[in-house]
Amino acid sequence: MRRALAASDRVHGTTSPNPAVGCVVLDRDGRVVGTGATSPPGGPHAERAALAEAGPRAAGGTAVVTLEPCNHTGRTAPCVDGLLEAGISRVYTALADPNPVAAGGLDRLRAAGVEVTLGTLATEVARGPLRGWLHRQRTGRPHVTWKVATTLDGRVAAADGSSRWITGPEARGEVHDLRRRMDAIVAGTGTVLADDPVLTARHPDGTLRDHQPLRVVVGNRDVPPGARLRAEGVAPALHLRTRDPAEVLAELTRRDVVDLLLEGGPTLAGAFVAAGAVDRVLVHLAPALLGAGPHALGDAGVGTIADIVRLQVDEVRRAGGDIVVDAVIDPRPACGPAE
Ligand SMILES: NC(=O)c1ccc[n+]([C@@H]2O[C@H](COP(=O)([O-])OP(=O)(O)OC[C@H]3O[C@@H](n4cnc5c(N)ncnc54)[C@H](OP(=O)(O)O)[C@@H]3O)[C@@H](O)[C@H]2O)c1
Repeated sequence: MRRALAASDRVHGTTSPNPAVGCVVLDRDGRVVGTGATSPPGGPHAERAALAEAGPRAAGGTAVVTLEPCNHTGRTAPCVDGLLEAGISRVYTALADPNPVAAGGLDRLRAAGVEVTLGTLATEVARGPLRGWLHRQRTGRPHVTWKVATTLDGRVAAADGSSRWITGPEARGEVHDLRRRMDAIVAGTGTVLADDPVLTARHPDGTLRDHQPLRVVVGNRDVPPGARLRAEGVAPALHLRTRDPAEVLAELTRRDVVDLLLEGGPTLAGAFVAAGAVDRVLVHLAPALLGAGPHALGDAGVGTIADIVRLQVDEVRRAGGDIVVDAVIDPRPACGPAE
């Protein structure tokens, strides 16, 4: 399953609105004979790709899939058919498909005599590349990760507005890894005017990665003609002249966005938190102090301690000299389905 998860991670960001699934096929002796992951929409699903690599060696073998194999004909034929035609005799899957249209795959496999195990590494898989897709299935809107680089005293820029760089190269490299998994990156006009960011996913040598998320600017002010975001041919960009997070989410839902990275700054992040539109928080904490300058989060609509926004910490780790805190916001009844 970890191998299937790793395969799905390699395509995370390229499959939306479809889930990034990974699949490994083993022959009857338990040897890995095929590995596959979801293709961009319209292309083969993970199971089909892994079965194609395995060929006749799949007969009598085992398929390990991160998500329940689909049982419906969409742009491609049901994966369950592929597994049955290949003669697979056992299927391990982490998560059941919450989409009623595609579900029922495991039942059909069982009915055909295939031995089925559900729940393998379920927690790990649910926190992986499928997290945003599962969230969108549940809520009807994209999954929003707010990422911020801050000093120990909670500042995201110095008093003069300069903010490059608060964190070290390892933490910044992780941001580029994260961006290539995303469908969209969102920043406010304040950040665009202050920093002139390019918001692309790049390799350490500065070259562009294969997959680039949609870059979205939110706010009513103009983006200057010379801004780096407006350079042609780099990556798609969009300016939403609104201040309403629900409107931003509705527009990005229409554009098939599943995973959204909110990269700033404090005003826009505060508005998203206030709207209940942030699901995960990634804080890159630099062991440094500024003493003045903007705080990490602007007004989030919290006026009294009873309204404090609590998070559950999934992970705390080091990135070079910095500390990364990865946490999820307790689900609250707020920003509901955007469609
Ligand atoms: N360290 C970090 O991780 C990090 C990340 C990002 C930014 N920053 C720093 O943050 C500073 C910029 O802060 P900022 O707060 O001005 O940036 P921001 O949040 O990116 O932009 C603020 C602007 O967004 C627009 N906006 C959109 N929706 C809004 C809403 N619901 N409520 C209010 N405004 C909304 C408004 O612009 P209009 O007037 O155009 O409508 C507002 O002025 C810079 O110094 C930058 O370096 C640091």
